[in-house]
Amino acid sequence: MGSAPAAIAAENLAVRVDGRTVLEDVSFEVQQGELVAVLGPNGAGKTTLFKVILGLIAPLRGKVAVLGKPPRRGASEIGYAPQHRVLETDLALRARDVVGFGLDGHKWGIGFASRKRDAAIEKVLDEVGVCHLADAPVGRLSGGEQQQMFIAQALITNPRILMLDEPLSSLDISHAREIIALLASICRERRVTVMLISHDFNPLASVVDRVLYLASKHGVLGSPEEVITSETLSQLYHSKVEVVRSGGRIFVVGADT
Ligand SMILES: Nc1ncnc2c1ncn2[C@@H]1O[C@H](COP(=O)(O)OP(=O)(O)O)[C@@H](O)[C@H]1O
Ligand SMILES: [Mg+2]
Repeated sequence: MGSAPAAIAAENLAVRVDGRTVLEDVSFEVQQGELVAVLGPNGAGKTTLFKVILGLIAPLRGKVAVLGKPPRRGASEIGYAPQHRVLETDLALRARDVVGFGLDGHKWGIGFASRKRDAAIEKVLDEVGVCHLADAPVGRLSGGEQQQMFIAQALITNPRILMLDEPLSSLDISHAREIIALLASICRERRVTVMLISHDFNPLASVVDRVLYLASKHGVLGSPEEVITSETLSQLYHSKVEVVRSGGRIFVVGADT
């Protein structure tokens, strides 16, 4: 009643890929403006869930709503950065070209270089802190710089929701920290909802609002204190999992990660 719709709401979601059930009964609501880490072992269905939210995979049962509406392929309210490998060093593209693909629905072609387009690209590169690299060949950028560039690409349509699939995976800890600080500022200052998939919760501990943990075809969303506990994770995994806190870090022991 007049209250803002959830950024993303999933209700009894079941998803099958190639005849295999990946998610069985997943329900959660991410509120607008939240920063949520999506955690879980390899193959838990994190990427698949993102594709359902993006309208790229239709669920078998249940439903998903994005800002109160059904998912729509190519929707400009979501900025998405898929899981990337590091780009080839001899790739003949500049950072500004790659960022510009965000305006073309990720078409790999040469866009029409209007002045407006250039201005939009430079503005978003500036916002993520790499305006000086606009004309650099992408293969020369470091892993962290490439990730900043992909975040710029995802942000160029000015989305309400940013979905990033393992943006920290190829980064060392100091570059990971820079990306996390950037995402936190995008979330806090622009009130963009951020969902990011990560293997390691620890570097994110100080910035996330909540975590969505996927395992055994199910999911649980809550504060880290609620979710990352021996009790909750043992229930989710259907087996004994121990959460150990040591030196300010959290370790999940016994989970198949
Ligand atoms: N294109 C595909 N073809 C066949 N199986 C797939 C495909 N994509 C995903 N899967 C299956 O779905 C499961 C979940 O995959 P994924 O969503 O990529 O997990 P995560 O991102 O959590 O590692 C995997 O176990 C895999 O077997
Ligand atoms: Mg994945």
